[in-house]
Amino acid sequence: MPNFETVTVETDLLIVGGGMSACGATFEAAYWAKKNGLKVTVVDKAAMDRSGAVAMGLSAINQYIGWAAGDNTLEDYVKYVRQDLMGISREDLVYDIARHVDSSVHLFEKWGLPIWLSEDGKYVHEGRWQIMINGESYKVLVAEAAKNALAAMGDKGQLLERVFIVEPLMDGDRCSGAVGFSVRENKFYVFKAKATVALMGGAVHVFRPRSVGEGLGRAWYPPWNAGSTAYFTIKAGAEMTCQEVRFIPVRFKDGYGPVGAWFLLFKSRATNAFGEEYMVTRAAELPKWAPYGLAKPIPANLRNWLGMEDVFAGKGPLMMRTEEAIANIAAKYKDDPKAFKKKMKELESEAWEDFLDMTISQSLLWAGTNIQPEEKPSEIAAAEPYFIGSHSGASGAWVCGPEDVMPAEYKKQWEPIGVYNHMTTVKGLFTAGDGAGASSHKFSSGSHAEGRIAAKGAIAFILGNNTMPKYDDAAIAELQKKILAPMERYEANVKYSSDPDINPAYIKPKMFMFRLQKIMDEYCGGVSSQFTTNKTLLERGLELLGMLKEDSEKLAASDLHELLRAWENTHRLWIAESHLRHVLFREESRWPGYYFRADYPDMDEANWKCFVNSVWNPKTGEWTMKKVPVVNLPV
Ligand code: FAD
Ligand code: ADX
Repeated sequence: MPNFETVTVETDLLIVGGGMSACGATFEAAYWAKKNGLKVTVVDKAAMDRSGAVAMGLSAINQYIGWAAGDNTLEDYVKYVRQDLMGISREDLVYDIARHVDSSVHLFEKWGLPIWLSEDGKYVHEGRWQIMINGESYKVLVAEAAKNALAAMGDKGQLLERVFIVEPLMDGDRCSGAVGFSVRENKFYVFKAKATVALMGGAVHVFRPRSVGEGLGRAWYPPWNAGSTAYFTIKAGAEMTCQEVRFIPVRFKDGYGPVGAWFLLFKSRATNAFGEEYMVTRAAELPKWAPYGLAKPIPANLRNWLGMEDVFAGKGPLMMRTEEAIANIAAKYKDDPKAFKKKMKELESEAWEDFLDMTISQSLLWAGTNIQPEEKPSEIAAAEPYFIGSHSGASGAWVCGPEDVMPAEYKKQWEPIGVYNHMTTVKGLFTAGDGAGASSHKFSSGSHAEGRIAAKGAIAFILGNNTMPKYDDAAIAELQKKILAPMERYEANVKYSSDPDINPAYIKPKMFMFRLQKIMDEYCGGVSSQFTTNKTLLERGLELLGMLKEDSEKLAASDLHELLRAWENTHRLWIAESHLRHVLFREESRWPGYYFRADYPDMDEANWKCFVNSVWNPKTGEWTMKKVPVVNLPV
């Protein structure tokens, strides 16, 4: 077992994560901290320039309201999210993000992000809320702005990259920082902070992916987000919400290229093996999900559902009709051969750029399988489930809203501990982006804006609670021992068998992950069970997860990289358990294209038009589940 140096960092505000919301949080925190002489420390498990879901870049910004120009109102956006999430959303949070998101987008443009402009100088829209960008370097320049803001703070601004955060530190009921380790050097880190903002994204590879041996690691959601925000908030004792609302994107098959530009910008149809358009032939299904099934736009999960029904009926594959969409657009120029040729070239390059900007592997797959989008259609398919509350899922922590808009019924929960925007139900612990639940459709821009909101709330908390929490050195030493134990276990037992991956004394992180994915896939409605489950399956799944949890004490790591993998998979296990418990508790099917309860096949507005919230009690280890009413804003 190598020696580990213990590094203790004392700070005022700790920002954990380096993604879109953390970049927003850092930018905003730097401003308020500088005014008040406070220190800000940012910790990312990777390098901020290319970390998180936006690492590869993006081809569109999916939340832009345009409200100053009068294009849309904030109320319009609240109604859009209400509709897409089948009535279940924290409208105060959605409203708050919507009123700030445009300012984040304008900053991105100022920092150098090329946003497509029409001839009259307006943003080119993909759809009503989405604008097109040349976004290969989106993350690099958003990170640069955050780093510059931090650097301008001198020795009060600190960035640590390649440090993986494992656990929260607690001083009674207050979060007092975090512990983790460097993934490059033998260093154990203890962060002592007055407030912590947990911004470590959502989770991928909790469910068995479609790509296994041949393409292991290839998923829609980049593989480095492993449920750390959910783990951190759950372990701190925070109330969670909508943990059942996973997201299943329909994507170009195997390369996971985005479909939004095709459906919205190119106005493409998707058809089945028989040439039928499922959105038309299966439209009779929609009234069953009224009122949401009957309003426009049809919610993402219901669009999924209609396509899935075709596939379940043996009518697959589903095809994105790229060749038809391109021909339809170019047809307008057919009387002028020169203009026609020019338009075809333009469309061809836009089609490839959509992937090259954000899902390079899809372009590689197109090239490798001889697909010219103007000549032949491409397969699309429902991906495996992910946890991404900032996109079209809704999982995350239950957070405090803005004082001016938050319904009184929610506000009273925070009055005893302090009403600070985006504080979880744990004192001093804040979150945003994928970490904050029930406020979907914030995407990259909204996550940045929400990170700013959370950081401002956290600075206000520090100013109201400006004392260093207390620390128990013995408890921290225990944590250190527990976190580094997988390396010790490996060292102590590796010689026992002839293959270091197979050993009766331990389990390697990869095997552990496969076991988790198998349980979730087969019992909790993954791809192989056609996204369908029931009470008996879920209860059995919970039992098996319990056994896996016991075995998590036997994880082994041969080096720092595997130590990272060991803890990532423990984090995945916890978000899996929380998800399964929520799916079990909600006795209805509300988002059929995300998961389907075969024993409760209908949506039950009378009994289940509510949030499902849960708390894991750090003292007893017990979970409690409850219903919380949805309070609509008057829009
Ligand atoms: P992320 O940006 O993912 O950041 C998470 C951060 O946490 C990373 O820096 C990571 O390194 C760090 N981290 C994780 N675990 C730890 C740990 N244990 N310790 C320390 N650090 C840790 N939005 C759009 O607007 N337009 C699009 O076209 C679009 N396309 C998308 C395509 C895909 C495939 C995905 C997955 C998302 C897409 N989004 C898009 C949504 C957007 O990417 C997210 O909404 C946004 O990135 C969420 O921000 P976040 O800060 O919560 O998480
Ligand atoms: S992303 O992964 O790049 O963000 P995608 O390209 O599929 O996703 O979608 C981008 C945006 O378009 C999202 O806001 C999504 O909800 C919306 N969208 C995609 N397809 C449709 C559709 N058929 N109808 C309405 N909105 C859609």
